[in-house]
Amino acid sequence: MSDWPKVRLHVVTGKGGTGKSTVASALALALATRGRNVLLCEVEGRQGIARMFDVDPLPYQERRLTTGLPDDDGGRGVVHALHIDAESALLEYLSMYYRLGRAGKALDRFGVIEFATTIAPGVRDVLLTGKVYEAVQRNSRNKNAIEYDAVVLDAPPTGRITQFLNVSNELAGLAKVGPIKAQSDTMMTLFRSQRTAVHLVTVLEEMPVQETADGIAELRAARLPVGGVVVNQVRPRDLDADDLAAARAGTLDRGRIDADLAEGGIAVSPELVDGLLAEAADHAERRALEDSQRELVARLDVPSYELPRLAGGIDLGGLYELAGLLRAQGMA
Ligand SMILES: Nc1ncnc2c1ncn2[C@@H]1O[C@H](COP(=O)(O)OP(=O)(O)O)[C@@H](O)[C@H]1O
Ligand SMILES: [Mg+2]
Repeated sequence: MSDWPKVRLHVVTGKGGTGKSTVASALALALATRGRNVLLCEVEGRQGIARMFDVDPLPYQERRLTTGLPDDDGGRGVVHALHIDAESALLEYLSMYYRLGRAGKALDRFGVIEFATTIAPGVRDVLLTGKVYEAVQRNSRNKNAIEYDAVVLDAPPTGRITQFLNVSNELAGLAKVGPIKAQSDTMMTLFRSQRTAVHLVTVLEEMPVQETADGIAELRAARLPVGGVVVNQVRPRDLDADDLAAARAGTLDRGRIDADLAEGGIAVSPELVDGLLAEAADHAERRALEDSQRELVARLDVPSYELPRLAGGIDLGGLYELAGLLRAQGMA
């Protein structure tokens, strides 16, 4: 059973480089089970999704990306992908709202794009979130559009996420009445509801963990729903506490290391053993740092999930592996 049964919109944020795009993709794969349709979207990203799944750059149009992680009975769903940019979202909005015909589109294409590049950042954000909102709220009235069981958003970083989702605030002063105000209010209702969860990705280092704590406080202050913390790129934990302490103190048994190496058919030299001991000390040091950061994460009082650092980086197989780990821990 998932920890987030009511959530339709999963927003994935985090400090840049911690693995937002990786985790968003793995979560989408994990959610796409048993015939479910999941939409994975990025906003003004650098085509990270396309790169990660090794497909052509994504247009402003939903594309079938891949099948999801199967469940125990082999039931799969489908992950679709969408790249949202403000210019295309504005064109779509105008053509829907004002029912611009073909002439209107041709006339406005250049003007609109120029306009969109100069508009206030707040308005730009609302165009992006507006498209996400449309995908989440979609219903069967439009027979050509897919209804999604879940939408996963590869979102802007922690420092910007509250402002990004706080659309009515961004428009304050700009639109106090009228259709834009009404629309931003309905969007806020979704973003603040239990159908949305904002998950934060971190690694076990001081700065990102601090940023995660600050981000959670900001989201709560803005009454936006905090989801889980995904602790990514965790080092393997295969040494026990005694060995770690010995490695840090430099008191590991040289004789045992010599013997193990020799048994493995490796020519033993003192330099080799020195090198290994230094690496072990370094690893133990980092593990100690990680453990203290892990305690801080536990005190954040939100569900947390851990993903290992995969040796050799992330390929498609790696994404499915991470998806399986997220599902096993109840995130999906
Ligand atoms: N669990 C992991 N194991 C190994 N490499 C990872 C893992 N998570 C992310 N990475 C790598 O770290 C880099 C940053 O990840 P990415 O998801 O692009 O971060 P972000 O979107 O937050 O900038 C990428 O090269 C990615 O392949
Ligand atoms: Mg990214």
